[in-house]
Amino acid sequence: MGRRTFLLLFLGVIGAWYVYTPLPENIEEPWAVLSMQTSMKTVSNLMLLVEFLGISHYMTSSMYLMSFLETPPTSDENVTVVDTTFHNTPVRVYVPKRETETPRRGLFYIHGGGWCLGSAEFYIYDLLSRRTAHRLNAVVISTNYRLAPKYHFPAQFEDVYNSLKWFLRQDVLKKYGVDPTRIGISGDSAGGNLAAAVSQQLLRDQDVKVKVKAQALIYPALQTLDLDLPSYRENAHFLALPRWLMVRFWSEYFTTDRSLEKAMSSNQHVPAQSGHLLRFVNWSSLLPERFQQGHVYKNPSFGSAKLANKYPGFLDVRAAPLLADDTQLHGLPRTYVLTCQYDVLRDDGVMYVTRLRNAGVQVTHDHIEDGFHGAISIGLKLGSRLENQYINWLHENL
Ligand SMILES: *[C@@H]1O[C@H](CO)[C@@H](O)[C@H](O)[C@H]1NC(C)=O
Ligand SMILES: *[C@@H]1O[C@H](CO)[C@@H](O)[C@H](O)[C@H]1NC(C)=O
Repeated sequence: MGRRTFLLLFLGVIGAWYVYTPLPENIEEPWAVLSMQTSMKTVSNLMLLVEFLGISHYMTSSMYLMSFLETPPTSDENVTVVDTTFHNTPVRVYVPKRETETPRRGLFYIHGGGWCLGSAEFYIYDLLSRRTAHRLNAVVISTNYRLAPKYHFPAQFEDVYNSLKWFLRQDVLKKYGVDPTRIGISGDSAGGNLAAAVSQQLLRDQDVKVKVKAQALIYPALQTLDLDLPSYRENAHFLALPRWLMVRFWSEYFTTDRSLEKAMSSNQHVPAQSGHLLRFVNWSSLLPERFQQGHVYKNPSFGSAKLANKYPGFLDVRAAPLLADDTQLHGLPRTYVLTCQYDVLRDDGVMYVTRLRNAGVQVTHDHIEDGFHGAISIGLKLGSRLENQYINWLHENL
């Protein structure tokens, strides 16, 4: 074999290996999924290289590249769309044009992107909010919030909370014609995390008189104490959200110091003095049998107290809503949780369903057997199926 033939063969094998991520058999439209994933992986690798060369932070350059997804606020025949600010936080507001006799439902939406990426202006979120407003005849507020690596916890949480509280003011609800008894909060991924966190916070907030009617959490991230759940093990290398990226997102939420990422990556970041919190995320007792199959529970090993003292955010219930005890969960509004089989975050959502039900909260759990993380916003058949299930639930429960 000549040297050239060998080289070609070698490149061919590397290329095929690179494109070919074995997909489970039940994934719909596999070629569309593969090509999408391959381009995302290529861009991601490029951004890692850019970071390695010391040119720019991985998240900063990724967000810069993603800015082509932004779309201006454009009204259409069904919905009026405007950009404004709620308590200094930029939001995009969608008001249906249809005539109504009575005040409308209101939905407060929080976009995903690992607390580092994403925007209400991205067309994928713009389309989702537009369709939600039209189909539910609801006023939809799609909020932005400051992002890492420039801003860390609790900036993201606080922006969302302040924006939400502004929306819930009597005069603001009146201005947009929203019925104060029919307000929901929802979000996907990191937005699902923030939705769960602000819903908990509202319960304890004496200033807020309005009672939220529903929360909808789409493949939410809900805890950072155990990053070795069965779903993390099974989907460590799966497509859109591999484990390394989720660990990176979590650590960036609290700090740009990579030592936290390193500790989280080996699942040795919880200090011994916080060991009692592990019961809130103990999958051997909180996951139904079918999600545990083939896995053996091992108590996580403890990490350095110094690291946890420096970045206490990851032990904070506002960052990890699963750390709330039952009395804090009791009284939450009726809840929708959507989880996907092929998602490192699957078990976060499933455990929250168990915890909420134990605390007496009414929960609808939609588990998508052929779903993967991020699917609602990518526009394949799977995406519209998820979107329909989510909007139908809101239609019946909000
Ligand atoms: C407006 O609503 C109608 C009826 O639901 C629908 O057929 C049409 O596609 C909508 N227009 C846009 C721009 O979404
Ligand atoms: C988790 O639960 C199992 C029983 O289901 C128990 O043996 C184990 O000690 C628990 N671990 C923690 C850290 O709570």
